[in-house]
Amino acid sequence: MSLGVLYVVVTGAGATRQVPSRLLPLAAERGWDVYVLATVQAMSSFPETMLQIEEALGRPVRTDFHTTVGYSLPDPDAVIVAPATYNTLTKWALGIADTYVLTRLAEQIGRDIPITAGPYINVKFADHPTYQGSLATLKEWGVNVVIGPSEPHESGVGAADDFPWEEILDTLAPANT
Ligand SMILES: Cc1cc2nc3c(=O)[nH]c(=O)nc-3n(C[C@H](O)[C@H](O)[C@H](O)COP(=O)(O)O)c2cc1C
Repeated sequence: MSLGVLYVVVTGAGATRQVPSRLLPLAAERGWDVYVLATVQAMSSFPETMLQIEEALGRPVRTDFHTTVGYSLPDPDAVIVAPATYNTLTKWALGIADTYVLTRLAEQIGRDIPITAGPYINVKFADHPTYQGSLATLKEWGVNVVIGPSEPHESGVGAADDFPWEEILDTLAPANT
């Protein structure tokens, strides 16, 4: 049984490389119909990953409003923003909608659907004075925030293999329900 439409928003953070191998199979197993939305930075930093995602889903990764893709996305029943960069989290918490991804994210706040963010940021970003406030704002707006066991990570390390993909999906609908 389909759980509905799940937007997976990916950003310019190293763990985006794990989306095709780790998140997409889990989400499909649970019955989500996944649409991936990528920031411009994600598209340019991880082009191979974007191709893998498109191959796995059989539909394009959306990164802008261009009508050339030929279809509009259905409204989501749930949203994941993971891995979430410092940049995207900060701008989302400020209500900024100056890109396709941030516009779609701003639209979802207040729609009464489950939304979950999984930050993937290094310790330098985590120490920025705005960071904790941004997380608090998002939580106040009803966004679940799942912090992985290795977060925040040391600067310059590769994507940890304990990024909490299962826990993030669990916040939307527990497994086997
Ligand atoms: C290879 C690469 C890896 C990066 N990894 C991270 C990361 O893990 N977390 C993060 O917050 N920023 C990371 N950055 C910096 C962001 O990509 C940068 O802040 C960018 O503006 C984020 O844009 P976005 O939020 O629209 O994707 C990385 C940059 C590069 C080039």
